[in-house]
Amino acid sequence: MRLIGVGVGPGDPELLTLKAVRVLSGAGRVFVPVLDPHEAGRAEATVAGHTPPERIERLVFALNERHDAGRRYAHWDAAGARVADWLRANDGTAAFATIGDPNLYSTFGYLAQTVRGLLPGVAVETVPGITAMQALAAAAGVPLAEGRERLTLLPATAGLDRILDTDGTVVVYKGFRHVPELTAAVASAGRTAVYGARLGLPGEEVTELSTVDGEVPYLSTVLIPARRESRGGKL
Ligand SMILES: C[S@@+](CC[C@H](N)C(=O)[O-])C[C@H]1O[C@@H](n2cnc3c(N)ncnc32)[C@H](O)[C@@H]1O
Repeated sequence: MRLIGVGVGPGDPELLTLKAVRVLSGAGRVFVPVLDPHEAGRAEATVAGHTPPERIERLVFALNERHDAGRRYAHWDAAGARVADWLRANDGTAAFATIGDPNLYSTFGYLAQTVRGLLPGVAVETVPGITAMQALAAAAGVPLAEGRERLTLLPATAGLDRILDTDGTVVVYKGFRHVPELTAAVASAGRTAVYGARLGLPGEEVTELSTVDGEVPYLSTVLIPARRESRGGKL
């Protein structure tokens, strides 16, 4: 029995790896996370071209629940129980498709932990995926790190205090409710920032953070490039 977490990239189906395509086409079942059982999520839309619809199954998660931990746990338990049931009944390979990379802020970690608790013999593997951070660097034409520069990735939900104490690159995930604070922090540090929303998806937007106004989608990332004065200056 194997459970494979497959990273499907930020949204553009061309950003799936060959290995992801092979695993998704061969798995007996491909589970996908959704908020609403009646609507395809991003991961499902990305894998749809590689997996027959009858092998795709939605698992409902409280993906946007920040306050009610009980609700989150109840969904992890139900999803884990369903995957464990499928693995027991089929003694096969199940995949779980997740946006970006399965080892970076992904629901896959919670699911895998739950399934392991129910089926201690299950083999858990992951197939790495291209992250939103990499997709934004590519879209903006900005190297993430050079030479001795630091690269910091953080979720805005952890707070934005002192995030620009570094001269290195800073990438901010989950910042959709924090754009005004983030814009102010970038300006007061005399830095610039690139904002990328819905990367690789219809409606993709890549622009300077200072121009962002109005409602910001959950799928948005901010990249504050390292201070760079000369070519290879940080080698
Ligand atoms: C739960 S994390 C998932 C991260 C993902 N596993 C990865 O490897 O990039 C969700 C955050 O990832 C970022 N993100 C994921 N996909 C994105 C996309 N297509 N466009 C912009 N940001 C994205 C956003 O910051 C979003 O709030």
